[in-house]
Amino acid sequence: MSEIIFIEKLYLCYPIQYIYMKNIRPIQDPSRPKVYIETYGCQMNVNDSEVILSILQDEGYALTENMDEANVILANTCSIRDNAEQRIWGRVDQFKLQKRRRDGVVIGIVGCMAERLKDKLLEGHVVDLVAGPDAYRNLPMLLRAITPENPQIDTLLSHEETYADISPVRMDRNGISGFVSIMRGCNNVCSYCIVPYTRGAERSRDPYSIVREAQELFDNGYKEVTLLGQNVDSYLWKSEDGEQVNFARLLEMVAGISPDMRVRFSTSHPKDISDEVIHTMAAYDNICNHIHLPVQSGSSIMLEKMRRKYDREWYLERVRKIRSVIPDCGITTDVIAGFSGETEQDHTDTLTLMEEVVFDSAFMFAYSERPGTLASKKYPDDIPYEVKTQRLNEIIALQGRMSLKSNEREIGRRLKVLVEGPSKKNPDELCGRAGSNKMCVFPSRGEKPGDYCEVEVTGVTSATLLCSRID
Ligand code: SAH
Ligand code: SF4
Ligand code: F3S
Repeated sequence: MSEIIFIEKLYLCYPIQYIYMKNIRPIQDPSRPKVYIETYGCQMNVNDSEVILSILQDEGYALTENMDEANVILANTCSIRDNAEQRIWGRVDQFKLQKRRRDGVVIGIVGCMAERLKDKLLEGHVVDLVAGPDAYRNLPMLLRAITPENPQIDTLLSHEETYADISPVRMDRNGISGFVSIMRGCNNVCSYCIVPYTRGAERSRDPYSIVREAQELFDNGYKEVTLLGQNVDSYLWKSEDGEQVNFARLLEMVAGISPDMRVRFSTSHPKDISDEVIHTMAAYDNICNHIHLPVQSGSSIMLEKMRRKYDREWYLERVRKIRSVIPDCGITTDVIAGFSGETEQDHTDTLTLMEEVVFDSAFMFAYSERPGTLASKKYPDDIPYEVKTQRLNEIIALQGRMSLKSNEREIGRRLKVLVEGPSKKNPDELCGRAGSNKMCVFPSRGEKPGDYCEVEVTGVTSATLLCSRID
């Protein structure tokens, strides 16, 4: 499965996570220099593009969705798997054509791939600007310094930067659901993962700036905020005078903005998700009953080698705990097929865990060795491509059955749905998400995006709940 999805589909089919986003809502002002931004990778990158746009707008730039008229072309990139990077190299070839056609156009690679590859991106003389995830405040200065002979690069990682004072310029299409980063970086060293190298050490953002940003979203008509971090459960902010705010407390603070403002979050780490967080979710109606809890593998041997710091039993216990406190909680996951040394038994362990948990949905990937990670140094990438693919296909097929099973359990349930817009197939119907993050389709009574509707589930497919109205 490709990890990149067009944002148009984002609100219609999938839990929001892996995204390719085009520019939205351009500002029409012919006198201003224009920036075009393409975003790849995870939600953090989407939010970072909004931060970048905010910084560049202050510098006088206007956003354009037409690459042909841009003075600056930026790709905000992802390094999580090799195919994510290959896609960017394909784009760099496209950008080269722009450079040939138009004098003075600036090509910038920012984000995780910029951080990983640094000046290697300058080879070939297409790219003029390389900026890592902690260097965005310097973009105006870097852009001013660029000449054809002097490309600019800043890939310094920071222990403090959280962009807390920058109000991101929202680039989502629907104006209902916004992302707010609550932390940056990651302190876990999962052996397969490049993120700690591209994003640096974990740091938590001032909770008052988070609440302020979420309040701003609400004041602007947004009805849903998703708090973002690589491991939200390890969020911990300490003030100079000794005040401490953990993730459970932060959730309460954001949920307190308004009962009409839904709160979501991603990603939870199975080793860190606490009973306190689970009970806080249960205590607030507007904290959505959905946890994205990446398992990666069902084999304790693989989990140990992946350095996930939990085993199969621990994971299953956390799922039992969640369901005992929040019986209808949506649980979704990420799975990696074909990590180093994975045996048929390890693979079977993943399949049986998936059958036991019955995830609502999953992002499923073939293992891709990333240079510089612990796994690349210690563990050979020794599962043949065909075997990885076959296992991945088995995992995807099983998840299709599990999604259907999970949806069938919803039949007869009454759900509160946040309307996203008309259903794609039938303009007389609306679509929107339940708290569990499942997509619901139901008859319209003229409601608008951002309204809430009460529905009852009457039928299902593996991707959608088909509902009738009860309000
Ligand atoms: N911080 C999150 C995940 C961030 S990366 C967490 O810890 O769960 C998103 C997903 O990409 C991971 O959950 C994992 O399933 C997948 N992933 C990361 N590195 C990978 C690699 N080298 N090969 C294949 N998939 C990978
Ligand atoms: Fe990567 Fe692990 Fe950090 Fe997630 S928790 S970003 S998988 S190192
Ligand atoms: Fe996200 Fe990809 Fe970077 S998943 S953190 S953009 S490597």
